Amino acid sequence: MSILKIARMGHPLLLARADEVDDATAPEIQTLIDAMTETITDANGVGLAAPQVHVPLRLFVFHVPVSRAENGKALPMQAVINPLITPVEEAGKALGWEGCLSIPGLRAAVPRWNRVRLSGQNEQGQAFEETLSGFAARVVQHETDHLNGVLYPMRMEDFRLFGYNEELDRYGQELL
Ligand code: NI
Repeated sequence: MSILKIARMGHPLLLARADEVDDATAPEIQTLIDAMTETITDANGVGLAAPQVHVPLRLFVFHVPVSRAENGKALPMQAVINPLITPVEEAGKALGWEGCLSIPGLRAAVPRWNRVRLSGQNEQGQAFEETLSGFAARVVQHETDHLNGVLYPMRMEDFRLFGYNEELDRYGQELL
């Protein structure tokens, strides 16, 4: 069991570009993926990028739980190594609520592409490419941003749609 300590906003690693993973199948990468999976499960999050656990490498883990799945498309917990995101621009952007384990207690409405092509390697080191929509597309954009030193507040366009979870639960949902 290893729950990793999560870096919070203000830590310089969260503002740095992470390095490519040379060998996705290396034992230390597998150990890192296992620990990140344990950490995100413990924190009840949907995505976690390596820089958030103080490792400046281009990989993240994510899932789409049934409760957040659109059209019944839940996705199991999976690792994405050296991800590349290409927006499907004709599908446009939408605002949606996001939180981040590195910015605890807060959430904001952030514009993201509705549809993206995601390529990279899985944890077996195999190259893949898939097209993701809606919440899944949002999660992988948020996580890939972490690998480039970008946090969701840097993507915001309307700071009125930024607040503490407790207050937004009470007052804020009608803003969207
Ligand atoms: Ni985050």
